[in-house]
Amino acid sequence: MDECELKLNNNNDIILLKLGGSLLTDKDEPFSIREDVVKNVVKQIIDANEKLILIHGGGSFGHPLAREYSISEGINSSIPNQILGLTKTHQSMIKFNTYLINLFLEYNYPVLSFQPSGIFIKDSQDISIQSIDTIETALTLNILPILYGDIILDKQGSFSIISGDQIIFELCVKLKKFSILKVIFAIETDGIFINDQETKDIKLATELYSNELDSLDLADLGKKIDVTGGIEGKINSIKNICKSNIPVQLINGLKEEYVYKSLKNKKLNGTNIMIK
Ligand code: IPE
Repeated sequence: MDECELKLNNNNDIILLKLGGSLLTDKDEPFSIREDVVKNVVKQIIDANEKLILIHGGGSFGHPLAREYSISEGINSSIPNQILGLTKTHQSMIKFNTYLINLFLEYNYPVLSFQPSGIFIKDSQDISIQSIDTIETALTLNILPILYGDIILDKQGSFSIISGDQIIFELCVKLKKFSILKVIFAIETDGIFINDQETKDIKLATELYSNELDSLDLADLGKKIDVTGGIEGKINSIKNICKSNIPVQLINGLKEEYVYKSLKNKKLNGTNIMIK
């Protein structure tokens, strides 16, 4: 994406930024925050001071509990204490979210946490949101709304997980007053790696068009198990976002100032997905 291609020149333009759970936490150790990384990223967001909605993943606060109680698969009476596990998963996410919220407030930056399990509801495959107006009003007041991967209840008497990526998709479709300039995914790798057709070497795909996403020759980098789907899951999320004609950028959140640079549309080495 070109340095000047996107400009936040309109009061109704916003960016959606997702901070991946594996970037912010150590997925191998339950309830572990990578404090240096989190603080660093929070500072970059504050420095950039753009109008945005922040969404963060669950990492080691979400996935281990969600997996233990098979929350993504819905209600299952043969799993002991599953309903209790559901509420524990939510509470664990609140704990992590509170840590982040407090960091912003310590730096005197106004943020407001929105509980996804309280504002989204599922009805089989359909997800609806009750608080779009509230989120938009917060943005108008220059408050940074923060949402996160969470549990979601289903009107059919069940539940599952709503990932940060799904929340982004819902926001892309349902925000009314604001227009989304781009969605940024800050992850712990550089972006999407593919096999070079000629050399067969693994390379970072720096520029992709949305209509190429179905036919990527993805490099096998070894998969980490998470309950919401790895890189293939990420590509599916991106495809859905692109249907709303919104470009997507994947960046390495561990690289110096990359979150800041991305928010400011400065050049960096990541994967840019443009609409075609
Ligand atoms: C998962 O959210 C939330 C729970 C498991 C409760 P995400 O799917 O967005 O989290 P990450 O980014 O993969 O960790």
